[in-house]
Amino acid sequence: MQIVDLTDDRKELYFFCLEDWSDEMKEAGDHKRVWYEKMKDQGLGVKLALDDTGEVGGMIQYAPIEHTFVEGQDLHLIYCIWVHGYKKGRGNFQKRGMGKALLKAAESDAKEKGAKGMVAWGISLPFWMRASWFKKQGYTKVDKQGIQVLLWKPFANDAIPPKWIKKKKKPETTPGKVTVTSFVNGWCQAQNIVYERAKRAAAEFGDKVVFQEIDTFDRPTLLEWGTSDALFIDNKEVRTGPPPSYKKIKKLIARKVSKL
Ligand SMILES: CC(C)(COP(=O)(O)OP(=O)(O)OC[C@H]1O[C@@H](n2cnc3c(N)ncnc32)[C@H](O)[C@@H]1OP(=O)(O)O)[C@@H](O)C(=O)NCCC(=O)NCCS
Repeated sequence: MQIVDLTDDRKELYFFCLEDWSDEMKEAGDHKRVWYEKMKDQGLGVKLALDDTGEVGGMIQYAPIEHTFVEGQDLHLIYCIWVHGYKKGRGNFQKRGMGKALLKAAESDAKEKGAKGMVAWGISLPFWMRASWFKKQGYTKVDKQGIQVLLWKPFANDAIPPKWIKKKKKPETTPGKVTVTSFVNGWCQAQNIVYERAKRAAAEFGDKVVFQEIDTFDRPTLLEWGTSDALFIDNKEVRTGPPPSYKKIKKLIARKVSKL
């Protein structure tokens, strides 16, 4: 097994989060590519894990925290680490040491780039990206927002702990219409899928529904709202992890439209 930097020939695979076999991923639009093009000159690090046959089994992406959805300075944040675990498509590469090796490589790279520590996030429930996995790798909890836990591993004594950017406000409603508001940053394909589905579903209701996009790649916009990726129907937030189906989003909008 080896850890390598992202190269041009593997970019498509990376944009699809190693799930180039998945029809769902194809719904995600172009957001990840656009995001990558902007972030690659801002210190973004992407590393891939290859098995002994050269097959890509895992990825990690991280960047200076100042460019991310977490508040902090002189640290790097891991957006996500993913070792392909489905039997379908590429197959299951988990529990063979790829996760640990990716994390180690990212930490070394961040250190070399002068970071004073590495920051990760996960959830306190036993599924998806577990905060407990990072704890096992030597990270300690620094902040919490609902079930989302922020953890870090400082490299320097004068490192300052990071904080979640707190949610600040909800979208306004439009009199006589239903407002669908989608916050999109670009880094997460699952959230990009939600955005695309919501936009498509909203369009089915013609002028009864106003679709509003909030591009949180723009940092002042992110700070103004305190939200990186989210979906609201009027001022009610819809849970987006895992992404709700197109049918479900359309049904939620239809319910609101029927009450107009
Ligand atoms: C967490 C993850 C990165 C670990 O990668 P991995 O290659 O399977 O892990 P490794 O083989 O390097 O194992 C590292 C350690 O984690 C442990 N581990 C791996 N998977 C685990 C699991 N599901 N639950 C608990 N511990 C686990 C291993 O036992 C090992 O422990 P050790 O340090 O005591 O030996 C991987 O399982 C994964 O991608 N999970 C899904 C995460 C996710 O949802 N990411 C977001 C995608 S958008």
